[in-house]
Amino acid sequence: MRIIVSPDPVTTGAAAAHAVASAADDRPDLVLGVATGSSPQPLYRSLAILVRAGLDLSSATAFALDEYVGLAPDHPESYHSVIAREVTAPLHLDPARVHVPNGAAADADAAAEAYERAIARAGGVDLQILGIGTNGHIGFNEPGSAADSRTRVVELAAQTIADNSRFFLDPADPVPTHALTQGVGTILEARHIVLVATGGHKADAIARGVEGPVTAAVPASFLQRHPDVTLFLDDAAASRL
Ligand code: GLP
Repeated sequence: MRIIVSPDPVTTGAAAAHAVASAADDRPDLVLGVATGSSPQPLYRSLAILVRAGLDLSSATAFALDEYVGLAPDHPESYHSVIAREVTAPLHLDPARVHVPNGAAADADAAAEAYERAIARAGGVDLQILGIGTNGHIGFNEPGSAADSRTRVVELAAQTIADNSRFFLDPADPVPTHALTQGVGTILEARHIVLVATGGHKADAIARGVEGPVTAAVPASFLQRHPDVTLFLDDAAASRL
């Protein structure tokens, strides 16, 4: 694992954006894995500046990591909506090449299998952008997720529901309890992985994921087995390394 520490979230995002831009320069038809959450937002903002300066991502394909189950795609906090708002539009991606698991499907298991097939048809993910949950989750692979897990329906951990409740302020519209997520095994097949974590609330998850034993109790620890992972951290997230 390579670890690049920057002083603050904006500088961290800019450093990670340059890694993504250089992958896109090498390969215009890049297959990008995209994460939601607040951690990658500065990365997307920096990348959007590079796009406005001439970086062309219009031939890139993107696959989101996960989606809530049971949320309408046009709900403002569905990952369909978040990806459209924070990734597709500012990065000038071709919407036809942007994929998000179908959390509204009547048959969620079939939707999970279809998503795996779509990733395979695209030739796999070249560069996967990841955040990390305070409990060490990646995507929505909660503690207990197996190293070889594939895209599937999962139940969200109480910690994740509490963490994500900041996006669901109306008590009549609570955080969904389940999600469709790429599995740990799916994520580990990406050729390059860029993980972004900022803030002291991530320091413990980062320390356990990077320096702790490789264990399903901390799904991010499985990244230690991947040959090409770069962590972009700010000082606070790196403070327990
Ligand atoms: C969310 C997402 C993850 C994300 C994580 C951290 O629930 N499913 O992909 O990495 O939790 O989010 P944040 O960056 O907002 O702390």
